[in-house]
Amino acid sequence: MKQETIAIHSGNIHHASTGDVTSPINLSTTFLRNEDGGYSGGHMYSRVSNPNRSALEAALTALEQGADAAVFSSGNTAGMTIFQALKPGSHIIAPDDMYWGFKKQLQSIFADTLEFDFVDLTDTTNVERYIKPNTVMVWIETPSNPLLKVTDIAAVAAITKAKGLLLACDSTFASPCLQNPISLGADIVMHSTTKYIGGHSDVLGGALITAVKDEFWEKIKNIQQIGGAVSAPFDCFLLLRSLKTLPYRMRGHSDNGMALAQYLEKHPQVEAVFYPGLPSHPQHEVAKKQMSGFGGMLSILVKGDVEATRKVVNKVKIFSQATSLGGVESLIEHRFSVEGPDTKTPPNLIRISVGLEHIDDLVNDINQALT
Ligand SMILES: Cc1ncc(COP(=O)(O)O)c(C=O)c1O
Repeated sequence: MKQETIAIHSGNIHHASTGDVTSPINLSTTFLRNEDGGYSGGHMYSRVSNPNRSALEAALTALEQGADAAVFSSGNTAGMTIFQALKPGSHIIAPDDMYWGFKKQLQSIFADTLEFDFVDLTDTTNVERYIKPNTVMVWIETPSNPLLKVTDIAAVAAITKAKGLLLACDSTFASPCLQNPISLGADIVMHSTTKYIGGHSDVLGGALITAVKDEFWEKIKNIQQIGGAVSAPFDCFLLLRSLKTLPYRMRGHSDNGMALAQYLEKHPQVEAVFYPGLPSHPQHEVAKKQMSGFGGMLSILVKGDVEATRKVVNKVKIFSQATSLGGVESLIEHRFSVEGPDTKTPPNLIRISVGLEHIDDLVNDINQALT
């Protein structure tokens, strides 16, 4: 089946007794045992599994062409679970433009237990250059937050497979509808479901999808179920509901993203535009090869200093100045102010999450803010 059909039909719970067409929310924390002590309904206790969570995991597995999925209470928890599943002393090769929160996790929570190098992975020869005897995993994020760098997933997968390393891919900016890293050789895909999958800025969540159910995946499921940082039934219901429109929303985000990027590239107040769909993007050819659309995330460098840049984000009217991305409403953010002085994000960078408003209104709004 095609993605539009999978998104609508996968993971639906139908009760024969009531004939539900859409999934009901199941709030029960515990489930009846059979006389023999088993669970004929398939669930025992909702930290371990719950009908809504299982339904969401099934749908994400199908959309990402994986073998299984695990959903968590946030994207940060999903990523952290992978780091927790690694043996102490393991070395990770991670991107220099890794999502700020994961970089912070490695540098603080895992500073004493894991080793890591932040490397420019747009040059895949860097992977081999940084492999050490204790390297176990390459983490890629494509497109990356906030510089929209693109990493060649298949090229990195060829190296990790040859060297027996794990390849994890944060695919949040692409969503399962624009890119499927498992089909390109990744072992685990990570999503902040708070973003495009949720799509309405009203639910926090994260997901991991695995290519195979192996020993490492068992460790991840164990941390999910014993650690317990799971997604609540209502959140899973909301995410499953949002998933049904994801393929169409991603088309709208991609159309608006491309149109805004093309407009801003010619704007006299803009120094540079980072958008994988533009032929001027340094990894445009790689993006074209591995993505079916380029999404709604772009960053620009404003001509001017920090103050001039802050003025732009304060002057927009339709865009909301707020953290996060992937919702139907357009958001804008000065990442330098958010990430603090030790960030490598340029001070004149503005990150834009292009929503589903009419493109003419978005263009007019950003133009009045820039001028
Ligand atoms: C690329 C990327 N990965 C992971 C996360 C973390 O997700 P969450 O905020 O759901 O914990 C984010 C959040 O902004 C992100 O942009």
